Amino acid sequence: MFSKKDIEEQILVIFGSNGDLSKRKLLPAIFQLYLNNLLPEKFIVIGTGSKDKNEITNREDVKSAILEFSPNSKHFDSKKIENFLNCVYYQRVHNQTETDFEGLKNYINTLSANLNIARNIIYYFSIPPFLYEVVANHLVRYGLNREEDGWKRIIVEKPFGYSYATAVELDQKLHTGFHEDQIYRIDHYLGKETVQNIMVTRFYNGFFEPIWNRKYVDRVEITAAEKIGVGDRGGYYDTSGAMRDMIQNHLLQVLAVVAMEPPAIFDSNSIRNETVKVLQALRPITAENASKQVVRGQYVATQVDGQMCPGYREERGVDPNSKTETFVALKAFVDNWRWGDVPFYIRTGKRLPVRVTEVVIHLKHAPHQLFKQLCLTHPNNMIILRIHPDAGIAIDFGMKIPGAGYKVQNVNMAFKYADLTDAKIPEAYERLLLDCMTGDSTLYARADAVRASWKFVDPIIQAWKEKQDIPLCFYKCNSWGPLEANNLFDEPYTKWCEPEE
Ligand SMILES: NC(=O)c1ccc[n+]([C@@H]2O[C@H](COP(=O)([O-])OP(=O)(O)OC[C@H]3O[C@@H](n4cnc5c(N)ncnc54)[C@H](OP(=O)(O)O)[C@@H]3O)[C@@H](O)[C@H]2O)c1
Repeated sequence: MFSKKDIEEQILVIFGSNGDLSKRKLLPAIFQLYLNNLLPEKFIVIGTGSKDKNEITNREDVKSAILEFSPNSKHFDSKKIENFLNCVYYQRVHNQTETDFEGLKNYINTLSANLNIARNIIYYFSIPPFLYEVVANHLVRYGLNREEDGWKRIIVEKPFGYSYATAVELDQKLHTGFHEDQIYRIDHYLGKETVQNIMVTRFYNGFFEPIWNRKYVDRVEITAAEKIGVGDRGGYYDTSGAMRDMIQNHLLQVLAVVAMEPPAIFDSNSIRNETVKVLQALRPITAENASKQVVRGQYVATQVDGQMCPGYREERGVDPNSKTETFVALKAFVDNWRWGDVPFYIRTGKRLPVRVTEVVIHLKHAPHQLFKQLCLTHPNNMIILRIHPDAGIAIDFGMKIPGAGYKVQNVNMAFKYADLTDAKIPEAYERLLLDCMTGDSTLYARADAVRASWKFVDPIIQAWKEKQDIPLCFYKCNSWGPLEANNLFDEPYTKWCEPEE
């Protein structure tokens, strides 16, 4: 476990500090690190943005964001907030105005000299993707990437690229000013304790590892369901869709952690070497197979609990004829020795009945079925890795119902992650910021992993664009998506799990 002594003095510069992500996630996460005594003695945050604010008005904004968006803000000691605000600064920077970066450089140099803080700097790109390259270039133009006076790191938000080609291009551009070790591509799913716990579950416990392969696993199901629609993000979402927004990054990363081989040693590069091998082993879904292995859907207006839920095409910022998918279900295969021919079913969607993310490992039936007639009506044994909410692990298996005969019922042994500790489970952004501050990139996506996942999803997106006969299936709000998603299973009695919140 870290203590603040292990963390070097440093400066965190946030581009887009007046934006949504910064207010809702980053500033509360930094404050939580402060409360947990995990910020170094010498540490400042410099927010930047186009708004003209002074230090006092910026500190008021930061305080409001912390109070509004921290999960436990009711219990905050106001003195602690005031103390924390002493390390918060602001500089007006218009991201597209090159000369503003000269002002930023002077501001950093002045603060670093006055406060006697080394110029170890993290630049957090909490800005729209089209600005990543622009801001990186401006930093390079004024030598703000140079490491003679301290290390420099950039955190780049998702989406990283819009396709394989644009991700490669963005990488090339960032690499002209920053080497790979300086680039931290954030995927907040990897910052979730429960995703990291998948590695511990698999590689610490003797009883999971022997069955974690094609011999015992029938199929793997990964679900990320959202109850809400696109809300205010219609404009962004309509150019992205569920495949780019959820599958290319978050869910393929989760799949990689579920399917990876144990690394020889537990360090950043070894772990990332293993996860990237999984992504590279994904069997391509060709344009011909796209209609057989992938189902895309879009929610339509539905009456739910007496209220009308608008359809996707009626949402603000969305094209009324949009074909953007708000639901994707797909069947993937990892072509390697461990997983040959085991299907991985991935599903994500908006306006589904619950908000839940989980992985279900469906085990094969026992080789000789003494209770054959029950085999088809009862699910296989399952290992359920609940990522969100109520993080934990459950094991589902059959037990005899007491009394005459041999009626079998499925029972569930469940462990809730929150029972392990009284301490609050850290938010993903706390963990990821801390990792970047200490130079640990294990939970950040490496360039080859990002490329491999784009390589997998690109042909599907292309097929949707080019092949008019691939349907967009409509589904009602508060349902589990289009019924066509069940056609992905080979066996007619197999269905998707319908997790409860
Ligand atoms: N919000 C989330 O929950 C979330 C989740 C995951 C990933 N992300 C990613 O995080 C990044 C930031 O997201 P966000 O929701 O915070 O974005 P945002 O609120 O729309 O924008 C952040 C800041 O970027 C600047 N900006 C926005 N649009 C601009 C434009 N057209 N031209 C010039 N500057 C512009 C603005 O800063 P100034 O006007 O002050 O310069 C704004 O405050 C994005 O890449 C997003 O994909 C966000």
